[in-house]
Amino acid sequence: MTTESPSALPASTKSDILLEALPYIRQFRDKVVVVKYGGNAMVDPSLARAFADDIVLMRSVGMLPVVVHGGGPQIGELMDRLGKKPEFRDGLRVTDAETLDIARMVLVGKINRDIVSSINVHGPIAVGLSGEDAGLILASARNPDLGFVGDVEAVNPGIILRLLAEGLVPVVSTIGADVAGQAYNINADTVAGAIAVALEAEKVVYLTDVEGLLADVDDPDTLIRRITPADVQHLLDDGTLTGGMIPKVAACVHAATHGVRSAHMINGTTPHVLLLEIFTDEGIGTMVSDHPPVTDPLDIPDEELTP
Ligand SMILES: Nc1ncnc2c1ncn2[C@@H]1O[C@H](COP(=O)(O)OP(=O)(O)OP(=O)(O)O)[C@@H](O)[C@H]1O
Ligand SMILES: [Mg+2]
Repeated sequence: MTTESPSALPASTKSDILLEALPYIRQFRDKVVVVKYGGNAMVDPSLARAFADDIVLMRSVGMLPVVVHGGGPQIGELMDRLGKKPEFRDGLRVTDAETLDIARMVLVGKINRDIVSSINVHGPIAVGLSGEDAGLILASARNPDLGFVGDVEAVNPGIILRLLAEGLVPVVSTIGADVAGQAYNINADTVAGAIAVALEAEKVVYLTDVEGLLADVDDPDTLIRRITPADVQHLLDDGTLTGGMIPKVAACVHAATHGVRSAHMINGTTPHVLLLEIFTDEGIGTMVSDHPPVTDPLDIPDEELTP
């Protein structure tokens, strides 16, 4: 996707780029960054490779990335191929036992494996998990009439903390289980927010298929660059948001009001957008936070700079 080889850039530009990254490398060293990977960013193999590169780079400079992935379009595709018709009740999709099996096979058996493999091309660091593993996600039925669609009851982050302590990169599929062992399919945005809170993450980043949160969904020029959790809650309450933006924004509010410094929505169809968000001063996408962004190394307290 790169149009110009990096080696063609002048040395001064390269050193500027590296220096610009310095405060961010310092800010995020040893800090957990949860990345929700979903939607269209997953369907293009070159974007998937760029995503793996970015995660490996983050880990290599001392950040602790945790990947949480979705897979709605891929689940829909397999259901079509199997001739399974989606069922709706009062406009809401019903997840029966067979649909749950399909979702679990696609998420845990296919998408999770693909992400783990693409990261591990760089070295043996990624480990795939389902939310059912080691009690990671305790789920409950959202509405018994809708079948096996779950809500997050609790996150037990123990298994993730153990993997991070070993220098590994956890990659999480968003299937949870209830106390009886029944599995549920849970919205990946919701899970990413809940995991970020449980891990006391510094940041949660949602890779989606739009530039970020738009004041008018039909007008890309209305991108909201920064917004507080309180203001974004108003947009949720007044109906500005529809469809997939609702759980995403709700998850951003939950994270930003429960100890996560900032939540971001960025366009995952732009190659390496994650690097731009994490390592540069460019204002990418939408940031939900009560805190200002860190842009100057002098803003970082001394104790964070000591080895
Ligand atoms: N105010 C808004 N600003 C931006 N997008 C909006 C807004 N309201 C609704 N949307 C819709 O939300 C969509 C993003 O959510 P969606 O659930 O479709 O994607 P995703 O969460 O990235 O992928 P997946 O659900 O497959 O993991 C956008 O493509 C857009 O159509
Ligand atoms: Mg979604």
